Amino acid sequence: METNATKRRDNKKSLRVKVISLGNAEVGKSCIIKRYCEKRFVPKYLATIGIDYGVTKVQVRDREIKVNIFDMAGHPFFYEVRNEFYKDSQGVLLVYDVGLRESFDALDSWLGEMKQEMGSQANMDSIVFIVCANKVDLTKRRVVDEGEGRLWAESRGFHYFETSAQSGEGINEMFQAFFSSITDMCENGGKRPVSEVSVGFTKEQADTIRRIRNSKDSWDMLGVKPGATREEVNKAYRKLAVLLHPDKCVAPGSEDAFKAVVNARTSLLKNIK
Ligand code: GTP
Ligand code: MG
Repeated sequence: METNATKRRDNKKSLRVKVISLGNAEVGKSCIIKRYCEKRFVPKYLATIGIDYGVTKVQVRDREIKVNIFDMAGHPFFYEVRNEFYKDSQGVLLVYDVGLRESFDALDSWLGEMKQEMGSQANMDSIVFIVCANKVDLTKRRVVDEGEGRLWAESRGFHYFETSAQSGEGINEMFQAFFSSITDMCENGGKRPVSEVSVGFTKEQADTIRRIRNSKDSWDMLGVKPGATREEVNKAYRKLAVLLHPDKCVAPGSEDAFKAVVNARTSLLKNIK
């Protein structure tokens, strides 16, 4: 017979959590969830109307986790329905389509919409975020590479996974990391454990790599005015080289950014007397 003590112990081991999915319409939020829960893929697009709700049970270490999944519609039309559902979430799946740059650029505004509904930053700190770079099976149409996506995610303390709801790539690993982090957070009194946020590179490094990727020419890349002198170019180059040297910087994309800076300097110096 089950004693009260056993019941109490088992209750302590079970957890109920709420997770939500966010991202532009058609990036694959529903398909990712379907792939995980039902092990299947539906190629036809069936837009989520407002919200879809589902429950699944998962085992993390010695705990049974009951996960309530609120799959949000990405279309702006459904904002009024969505905004009710942000509160009390422990986990967020932030999804974009690696073949659509605007879906990647939109991640900031999804965070913005969520923040607005949640109130303070403190509420956002007690949530585990996973970024899914989805549709990686469609390699030919890919426009957002891994370095760029990983940098965006990890510089914010979020996890990053490459996924395909179509082939199943990355899906189980992503959900395992997601639920295990949520469990860690619950065991840590509702705060995201610090270790998750320490990513081994600074915000300055992340911001600089992003700036370099988006620069319009070599002057812009080095952060000097067009027509700058050799000394100014060399000074700017040295500063960036110290910040981004692959021996010192582990931020995703640092190697490419470093090479781009070296090339920019070489091409500018060729034309400066
Ligand atoms: P909303 O509910 O409107 O916000 O869209 P959603 O983000 O839930 O998108 P959904 O999961 O419905 O998928 C949109 C379309 O993309 C469908 O036609 C899917 O079959 C397709 N799709 C989703 N994931 C993948 C993937 O990993 N690879 C490929 N090739 N297609 C995918
Ligand atoms: Mg959907």
